[in-house]
Amino acid sequence: MDNTILVTGGAGFIGSNFILQWIAEKRTPVVNLDKLTYAGNPRNLERVCLNPLYSFQQGDICDRDLVRGLLERRRPQAIVHFAAESHVDRSIRGPDDFIRTNVNGTFSLLEETRAYWTQLPDQDRERFRFLHVSTDEVYGSLGPDDARFSENTAYAPNSPYSASKAASDHLVRAYHHTYRLPTLTTNCSNNYGPYQFPEKLIPLMILNARSGKPLPVYGDGLNVRDWLYVEDHCEAVRGVLHRGRPGETYNIGGWNEKPNIEIVETICSILDEICKDDPLVPHRNLITFVKDRPGHDRRYAMDARKTERELGWKPRETFESGIRKTVQWYLENDAWVKEVTAGNYRHWIATHYS
Ligand code: NAD
Ligand code: DAU
Repeated sequence: MDNTILVTGGAGFIGSNFILQWIAEKRTPVVNLDKLTYAGNPRNLERVCLNPLYSFQQGDICDRDLVRGLLERRRPQAIVHFAAESHVDRSIRGPDDFIRTNVNGTFSLLEETRAYWTQLPDQDRERFRFLHVSTDEVYGSLGPDDARFSENTAYAPNSPYSASKAASDHLVRAYHHTYRLPTLTTNCSNNYGPYQFPEKLIPLMILNARSGKPLPVYGDGLNVRDWLYVEDHCEAVRGVLHRGRPGETYNIGGWNEKPNIEIVETICSILDEICKDDPLVPHRNLITFVKDRPGHDRRYAMDARKTERELGWKPRETFESGIRKTVQWYLENDAWVKEVTAGNYRHWIATHYS
């Protein structure tokens, strides 16, 4: 076993940011296993695709022969598991893929990891880690005065997406408890930043506003999310991987609760400022309240004190600087935007918002 890590779902939003950061900072080998669903985009990794430290394997985490072969060949010292179906609205329209990848896929990965880990020499077995990346949504929905989610909050998932993530978290927990597999679980709040697929709130609003399309705010726009810049999330995951205690879970969040309407208005103001001669100014005129998401969780907020205390991690980016960088990134990366908003994407937008 050398110092290679295996990342699953590394062509998606957070996974690709994680790999770019890992190669820039750690300079050790990364193998990316990704199925390349609609959400996976090799272009996200253009900066490292010729770097000898990076290698890509297209494949499904449910394909046990493929996973077994990859583990035998590359002998990683850690697995960082991002691969998932991740969009709540898609899970409401069609939950099957969520159960398949998030539940069965995580189970397959755990089984193959257990077989691989069991036969490692003592020292390598001791050093090995399986880090499972999960979400705050497994804890359900908070009222306005409820305490933030801690690692001890009871699970109460409300959407097929969050239920599938909760199921995968439970499997990971059981593999530690039963087999002593050295697992770590991270539960993070809403991420934003470069390379996020524009089905999610922030990139959707930036791109719609830029092209004069309606900005569809669900319900009354007062649902609250706790936003974290993606690079801060990736840094926290690295911290957990190196210093986290096996069997533990770590909450990661931005201490940055905001109602959706405020996020959309902020994006509009930044665009007004950057594109001041545009006839679309003021962009907030594009805001349109639409039918609410079924079962829409009202508020998420993370208590990240354990992660901060044990790992010495804190978010570096403020929301003000992070959102500005993000808007700028989407305006400057037209080729990426054109590519991801072609084909299937148009079909999703047309069906979902009709
Ligand atoms: P994403 O949808 O952008 O990317 C998911 C990636 O997984 C894609 O590259 C896709 O091709 C790949 N994938 C999907 N099914 C696969 C399969 N069966 N086998 C192999 N690869 C497969 O997701 P994201 O937003 O980057 O989220 C990554 C992880 O972080 C997910 O586990 C998600 O639950 C979790 N998470 C996301 C957020 C957020 O705000 N985006 C917050 C907390 C936790
Ligand atoms: O909290 C972590 C989770 O954050 C992750 O686990 C998920 O993978 C990720 O997709 C995200 O889930 P959300 O449902 O919170 O993110 P989304 O960007 O879809 O929506 C954010 C909020 O904005 C939510 O309250 C719904 C609302 N919304 C979303 C869209 C797409 C709108 O009002 N209009 C929209 O068009």
